[in-house]
Amino acid sequence: MTTEHSIGYQSGFGNEFSSEAIEGALPVGQNSPQRVAHGLYAELFSGTAFTMPRHESRRTWMYRIRPSAAHPTFKAIGSPIPLTTLAPANPNRLRWEALDIPSEPTDFIDGLRAMVANSSLDRPNGITVYHYVANRSMERAFYSADGEMLIVPQQGRLLLVTELGRIELMPLEIAVVPRGLKFKVELLDSTARGYVAENHSAPLRLPDLGPIGSNGLANPRDFLTPNAWFEKNQGPTRLVQKFLGSFWEAELDHSPFDVVAWHGNNVPYKYDLRHFNTIGSISFDHPDPSIFTVLTSPTSVPGLANLDFVIFPPRWLVAENTFRPPWFHRNLMNEYMGLIEGEYDAKADGFTPGGSSLHSCMSAHGPDAQTSERAMAASLEPQKIDGTMAFMFETSQVLRATEFAMTTSALQKNYDACWEGLAGKFDN
Ligand SMILES: [Fe+2]
Repeated sequence: MTTEHSIGYQSGFGNEFSSEAIEGALPVGQNSPQRVAHGLYAELFSGTAFTMPRHESRRTWMYRIRPSAAHPTFKAIGSPIPLTTLAPANPNRLRWEALDIPSEPTDFIDGLRAMVANSSLDRPNGITVYHYVANRSMERAFYSADGEMLIVPQQGRLLLVTELGRIELMPLEIAVVPRGLKFKVELLDSTARGYVAENHSAPLRLPDLGPIGSNGLANPRDFLTPNAWFEKNQGPTRLVQKFLGSFWEAELDHSPFDVVAWHGNNVPYKYDLRHFNTIGSISFDHPDPSIFTVLTSPTSVPGLANLDFVIFPPRWLVAENTFRPPWFHRNLMNEYMGLIEGEYDAKADGFTPGGSSLHSCMSAHGPDAQTSERAMAASLEPQKIDGTMAFMFETSQVLRATEFAMTTSALQKNYDACWEGLAGKFDN
């Protein structure tokens, strides 16, 4: 374990952060001096093309004991996990129970289960959604060349050891690891379970706020990026990368976590979902769920997201003369939902913490029959929805379930039944 020092963070989103684990290690006034202090190597880590507009550019300079280039040949190791073998496209509404924690030794990488995807990985678009189940810490390091990873713990605390520092993460917090950043996941509890959205397109960012103004939703200062931290004398380390969906491995004769200082904005970060400033109606109706967007990965079409990360946090419902649950609807976008804790206000039962659901493009959905009847009969006092945190990965391209997702015993047999009791209503 690598928890012997307290972990420090820097606050903000998209800043030019800087950090040095040893005083004076960070060059002043230039990025790549002939001799870096302490004899370190300078290395550029780019998250966007060099020529992106300045406000979209992501890059970090690392000052490290060995450059990343010092590695032997990667060898294909096949996929250790049921990855992205996709089942035939299926327009049905689908729902899954939480996946069981395995009994055999399983680290975060072994325990990734690809559920749905809409990516042809050799193009920079789409997402892949995984669930993870783990019962031991990673002893190897990992990076994905295929995308940044948004990690949503549902059970068990994690320690993310990254090249740029360490992040402690617990359920109700989320973390984002940039594409290509080396990291490993250590377990701070005996088991861990959660969700990952791998974003193959533009890096996640805060949504614009429009008429909401300069405050609200996720505020930039609540995002935390770790301070520099490094291992000096660690022995051989297996480094696994995911490249176009396949796994490759090389054995390093050193730790890849050897960055002594760094500066830049292509960084890992975490965010506590309880800091989300939830905004809703104080008159009637409720806004579209986009009002709950934490982070967004845009496409080139304004307003059309490759990935929106949306949460349904505790909140007051006060709208008058209003059907208060999420309304019945059909959506152009594709919605993959998960539940971290509590109950989701559109479903009476069947959607459990750790579980998930998929509502694809134009698949009709909404509250189940029981919730719907209750909502239409309710006296509309102010009501607090509490003790819950559901979320949604929403994406513009159709998500296909994987073979694993369609054959696992966690797939519910008759999700459609929850809408069976919706009686015809026409009071003539
Ligand atoms: Fe929906």
